[in-house]
Amino acid sequence: MNPVLAELHDKARAVLDEVHYDFFAGGVGDEVVLAENEAAFRRRALLPRVLRGGEIRTDLPVVVSPTAFHKLAHPDGELATARGAGDTVVVSSMASTVPIADVVAASRGPVWFQLYVQPDMAVTEALVRRAERAGCAALVVTADSPVFGRHRRDIEHGFHDLPAGLAAENMRDLAGRGLLDIAMSAEVSWEHLGRLRGMTSLPVWVKGILHPADAVIAVEQGVAGIFVSNHGGRQLDLVPAALDALPAVVDAVAGRVPVVLDGGVRSGGDIALALALGASAAGIGRPVLWGLAADGEAGVRRVLDVLHDEFRHVLTMCGGELTRDMVVARC
Ligand code: FNR
Repeated sequence: MNPVLAELHDKARAVLDEVHYDFFAGGVGDEVVLAENEAAFRRRALLPRVLRGGEIRTDLPVVVSPTAFHKLAHPDGELATARGAGDTVVVSSMASTVPIADVVAASRGPVWFQLYVQPDMAVTEALVRRAERAGCAALVVTADSPVFGRHRRDIEHGFHDLPAGLAAENMRDLAGRGLLDIAMSAEVSWEHLGRLRGMTSLPVWVKGILHPADAVIAVEQGVAGIFVSNHGGRQLDLVPAALDALPAVVDAVAGRVPVVLDGGVRSGGDIALALALGASAAGIGRPVLWGLAADGEAGVRRVLDVLHDEFRHVLTMCGGELTRDMVVARC
C-alpha cells in the first residue's frame, strides 16, 4: 500500500475509539467478502501498451462513496469530507451526521444524495425534496440492503447507538420518524424505484448491483447509472468481490449507462484495473474515512491526491489506454 495511505490508516486506528474504528473497518459475517474485495485486485495484472506517444493528463475518475456517521471519525464530520474532496463527486449518505444542505454548501464539487427507499413513500418523498432543495445533482438509491448486515464486530461491542449529541441529521423532523429510524425494508421493490423516479427530475442511480439481470432491469427502468458494489463487504458474506462481478454487469449494460465500481479500491492501480474492466469510475469508501479520522479535511484531500498521482502514473505507464484485453490473471 502507498505509505501515505498506510500512515493515514494507522493514525486513524490510533485516534479512533476501538468501537468506532471497528464500525468503519468491519464487514459482515466472517469478513470473507471484505478481504476478497481487496484480494480481487491482486489476482489481476495489466499488460501495458507501449510507444503510444503523448503525455497523459487526466482527472481522477473517482467518486467518494457514501458512508454513514462521519462525526464518529472527526468533529467536522461530513463538512470536512466535502471540503477535502474538492471537485470530486461526493455521494453523501442519508445517514449523515450533518444535514445534506450543509454538506452541499461546504462542497466545491457536485454532491449526490444516497438514500434507502423508505417503504413509507411520504418519508422517501420528503428526503428527495430535502436533497433537491439542498442542490444535490443526483440521487443514489442503495438496493443491496433489504435488512441490516450482521456486523460481528458491532455485535461484540454492543454498538448500536450514536453517542449523545450525534444524529442522522437528514432524518430530523421527518413526520413521525426518530433520528435513527432509517428503515431498511425487504418490501422495497423496483416498483418503489419507479415511483421515486416519477417524483423527481434528478438523475437516479442505483447502488449495490451484482447480478447482470438486475443491471438490465435497472437500465430498462431508466436509471442514470449503476454502482457495482457489495457495500464494502457489509451486507452478505457470500457474494463475489465487487471487481469479480464487474465484467458481467458491464457486458449486460452494454454502454447504455455508466458503471461505477466500489469495494476494495486502495490505489491508483486498483482504479486503473476497474476502468480496464469497464467501469467509468471507482468509488472510494474506507480510505476516505481513514483520511478524515487522521486529519479531517486535509486527510481526505491527501487520500484523493495520492490516488490521483498514482492513477496518472499508471495510466502513463499504460500508454494512456485501459481496455479489457489488457487485464490478465496473475498466476
Ligand atoms: C458504508 N457503505 C454505505 N453505503 C450506502 O449506500 N449507504 C451508507 O450509509 C453506507 N454506510 C457505510 C458505512 C461504512 C462505515 C462503510 C465502510 C461503508 C458502503 C459504501 O458506500 C461503499 O460501498 C463501500 O465502503 C466501498 O468499499 P470500500 O471502499 O470501503 O472497500
